Amino acid sequence: MDISETILSRKSIRAYLDRPIPRDDLEKIITVGQWAPNAGAFQISVVRNADIRRKINDRTHDAMVRSGNAFLQERASLPGYEPLYGAPVLILLSAPADAPYAAFNTGLAAENMLLEATGLGLGSCFLVSPTLALNKEDNHDLAQEAGIPDGHTLQCAIVVGYAAAENRFTVGERARKGSVRYID
Ligand SMILES: Cc1cc2nc3c(=O)[nH]c(=O)nc-3n(C[C@H](O)[C@H](O)[C@H](O)COP(=O)(O)O)c2cc1C
Repeated sequence: MDISETILSRKSIRAYLDRPIPRDDLEKIITVGQWAPNAGAFQISVVRNADIRRKINDRTHDAMVRSGNAFLQERASLPGYEPLYGAPVLILLSAPADAPYAAFNTGLAAENMLLEATGLGLGSCFLVSPTLALNKEDNHDLAQEAGIPDGHTLQCAIVVGYAAAENRFTVGERARKGSVRYID
């Protein structure tokens, strides 16, 4: 795929097969995350451990239910809804709590990784929902188990895996976003 084709075919996948991804593919995905535009420290934690993914999934679900946010509560109440969508790989992007450009550094790394995954024929989805759980003091032990360094805040995450046939938690078609104005 050329770069435009890859960008246009990337989409959020919200159902995955219970099948690991090849180690080589994972390494390619992580490497491109380290070559994004950058202005500061961040960490990529790659969570393949099923037990830790399950705990993060369940505590994220719980945090969505308790969030007080109607959209998140509605999503969490859908039958069978899993915030990590059953993906075999969860990649957490964290940065020092006081880092000024943490969201840019991690967001740009995440987008590179989403595009690499797409180019490799894998499904992926950008997530902020795990931040609701893992940035809570109550879940500090789980954040440590997931490899997030002390003093880091989780900024975002991605999941990667083989897409299942039915992407049932995604509604509607993708659309162009943002407005554009040319000033000549
Ligand atoms: C800041 C941000 C947070 C997001 N958080 C989530 C999330 O927690 N869970 C999820 O399923 N999708 C999440 N998404 C994915 C968006 O819903 C998705 O990118 C958007 O609907 C466009 O669809 P597409 O990615 O298929 O083009 C997030 C996207 C952004 C930019």
